[in-house]
Amino acid sequence: MAKAKCVLAYSGGLDTSVAIQWLRENRDLDVIALAVDVGQERQDLEVVREKALRIGAIESLVKDVREEYVAEFLSKALAANALYENKYPLLSAMSRPIIVKHLVQEAHRAGARYIAHGCTGKGNDQVRFEVGIAALDPEIEVIAPVREWDLCTREAEMEYAAEHGIPVPTTKESPYSIDDNLWGRAIECGALEDPWMEPPIDIYTMTSDARGDACDAPEYVEISFEQGLPVALGGELTSFHDIIVKMNDLAGRHGFGRIDMIENRLIGVKSREVYEVPGALTLIQAHKALEDLCLERDLLHYKLGIEQKWAELVYDGMWYSPLKEALDGFIATTQKLVTGDVRLRFYKGSCVVVGRHSPYSLYDYNLATYDAADTFDHHAAKGFITLWGLPTKVWARQRRKTGKEGEV
Ligand code: ARG
Repeated sequence: MAKAKCVLAYSGGLDTSVAIQWLRENRDLDVIALAVDVGQERQDLEVVREKALRIGAIESLVKDVREEYVAEFLSKALAANALYENKYPLLSAMSRPIIVKHLVQEAHRAGARYIAHGCTGKGNDQVRFEVGIAALDPEIEVIAPVREWDLCTREAEMEYAAEHGIPVPTTKESPYSIDDNLWGRAIECGALEDPWMEPPIDIYTMTSDARGDACDAPEYVEISFEQGLPVALGGELTSFHDIIVKMNDLAGRHGFGRIDMIENRLIGVKSREVYEVPGALTLIQAHKALEDLCLERDLLHYKLGIEQKWAELVYDGMWYSPLKEALDGFIATTQKLVTGDVRLRFYKGSCVVVGRHSPYSLYDYNLATYDAADTFDHHAAKGFITLWGLPTKVWARQRRKTGKEGEV
């Protein structure tokens, strides 16, 4: 009888390679390996594909989803200026839902009842995989080999791999856990587990050191947006994808885009995270600057709260949820007139907005100026303040009457 099938989210690393064998041996499954290209640092994905076959996958696929990742996922993150805990641009949280989408698609194509991933029991990514899969197909069963197997130490895992003819890393492995894609790079573990310790300089690959090899001269860049999406760089029409790639490079060269933070994981643990997100931070900063110009005050203020909730939902694995979908609707409405240009200056680890311009700008020179051109009605301010401050005045009088003066 044919064996049941399982689609495995495959990276080519030790964990997911061992998982292929483990799923065959312990669950008697046929494994279909799927590697998804979301713009991670160039590794030869053809080599990754063949490796899965050599280890025993019955089928091995590589899917380049970069364009879709930008169009359907990162565009929403930018519109939401998404920063978890006001700092982290969600790079890992963003890539999991698109990987999930393709895992489920493959499972349907191949008639597989199972999907497996290589996450441990301690992180956020397991939640993102499993809740995402449940949302897209509640009948699929998820297997998390790394959470189940007894290969607790790296040595035990290497031994298991050697026994089964699975290629083990020959070079000395990095002590860090790295995850990366177009939206940036996350670095965890190793020496970083001591929150007091400054991150070693050699962990960075996308950003120069602002004190060292960053460019010596300042550089100006102009980014143009249309309805909230970046469409041109320096006046030249370019795809959003290429703008991300170019800004990763340019901002990175100037040493901009490093984050060192303590983060609250969904599973309840605080962890020390280091990120390199030069392009993401640049684009969010520029996009916010344009919104400051184009969004009416109440809408802008309300959106700030929505942005925070959006980031939390996505961080917590709720990409495919009714609330996140509804918030997307709100955010999309806000972007209709976010069109214009933003000028930035990069220099030695900094990125500063130095200019903004829009055909939909709500900035009114005549209202803002202190020069002769001033059209603002200064007399109207008097009546406004009288009524604005009226409740405070009533409260203060009452307080005085009851002898409660000085107590707030
Ligand atoms: N802490 C970040 C998050 O949960 C980054 C996770 C990186 N993942 C990894 N497998 N190293 O989104």
